[in-house]
Amino acid sequence: MGLKGAISHKTLTRSWHYVQRRSYSATAMSAWQVHEYGGLDQLSLSTTARAATIKHPTEMLIKVHAASINPLDIRMMGGYGRSLLNVIRKQRGTLNYGTEFPLTLGRDFSGIVVEVGRRVSKFKVGDEVWGAIGAFRPGTHAEYTVTSQCEISKKPSNLTHVEAGSVPYVAATTWAAIKTVGQLDHTKVYGQRILVLAGSGGIGTFAIQLAKAWGMHVTTTCSTDAVELAVSLGADEVVDYTQTNVWSELQHKEKFEFILDPLGGEVTDKAAKFLSPWKNSKLVTLNFPLLKNSDEMGVLPGLVKSAISAGFVTLKGIQSGGSIRWAAFNPNGDALEKVKRLVEDGKIRPVVYKVYPFSEAQSAYKTVFEGHLRGKVVLDFKPA
Ligand SMILES: NC(=O)c1ccc[n+]([C@@H]2O[C@H](COP(=O)([O-])OP(=O)(O)OC[C@H]3O[C@@H](n4cnc5c(N)ncnc54)[C@H](OP(=O)(O)O)[C@@H]3O)[C@@H](O)[C@H]2O)c1
Repeated sequence: MGLKGAISHKTLTRSWHYVQRRSYSATAMSAWQVHEYGGLDQLSLSTTARAATIKHPTEMLIKVHAASINPLDIRMMGGYGRSLLNVIRKQRGTLNYGTEFPLTLGRDFSGIVVEVGRRVSKFKVGDEVWGAIGAFRPGTHAEYTVTSQCEISKKPSNLTHVEAGSVPYVAATTWAAIKTVGQLDHTKVYGQRILVLAGSGGIGTFAIQLAKAWGMHVTTTCSTDAVELAVSLGADEVVDYTQTNVWSELQHKEKFEFILDPLGGEVTDKAAKFLSPWKNSKLVTLNFPLLKNSDEMGVLPGLVKSAISAGFVTLKGIQSGGSIRWAAFNPNGDALEKVKRLVEDGKIRPVVYKVYPFSEAQSAYKTVFEGHLRGKVVLDFKPA
């Protein structure tokens, strides 16, 4: 999987002045890509993909050692987000001669810095880092990826790359939901009640642990075979949604100061009834409609429809006695730095469900596509 060839004169003149120290030269790399939107059969390995290149002085080039696969990758493979993301790609110069194709998927990674831009101050060549990169960027299911220094942090020293590669995307998304949008102040939530819906997946397994690390009382939902996992991660109460009606079960419990809802749809409305009316309680759903609306209606109408929906959601929140908000994945290196400390303190552990070698990415994507995950699916880039 080594980088091949010598960098072209054109590429050099375009990016050289941004780079502090160039430690490699290449025109091609291996990457899993799609050449048009569709299903899993669109995914193919290119050994001559255009090499990732720093295009901004605050960017870095990373040699990827491990990367996870997320439901977002499957959805992006089908075209999810293309309208709005292409506008951003155009602005940020990440289109390939006017098109997003070939599109490399993958949002997070654990790896090593191999090149830094002139204005990178926090990292140096050789640092072991982890991160989750913006959806407009060419992805991490490639030998090399480009990131900005605000999207990453140093990798926890007690994790392997495979373990570390499983965390950044779900950590950044959960942080966006609980902390940035939900505004939970970790110094003031000790003993507060949180409901984490879908506790067995990537988001749920991380969110249970983050809430426990902050001293919250965690209730979660999952199916029978995941109950043990949820308890092992610290959940205080587990509702098995395959054996009981979750909403009837929750009637017998105290209400919640916070609800994290990765599922969306009618679940959001049903769950909102269990918000505590007294304590500035919040439900944050990850069912963020902006990209979908933009794909269906175009960017501007999609923005308008999403803004109107936000108004309705706010009203529903008021009716429920708390507030309902949307959150979405947002790269956040500062959050990863805090999560790194929690991992090193033993308060959060990666939950790796399955590991596939880089060469078997198609099987790995299939596993994520089929669902019922218990933690994360990770690609290991180490040569077999
Ligand atoms: N807006 C954003 O930026 C954003 C970012 C990340 C994730 N998300 C969304 O959040 C959702 C979860 O993400 P993820 O990464 O955790 O996905 P995941 O790893 O695929 O996990 C989903 C989990 O939910 C469980 N589940 C399914 N239906 C359930 C139900 N009714 N009650 C309780 N558990 C249920 C599944 O297991 P069983 O089916 O076996 O029960 C699975 O373990 C996805 O839909 C994703 O699109 C949104």
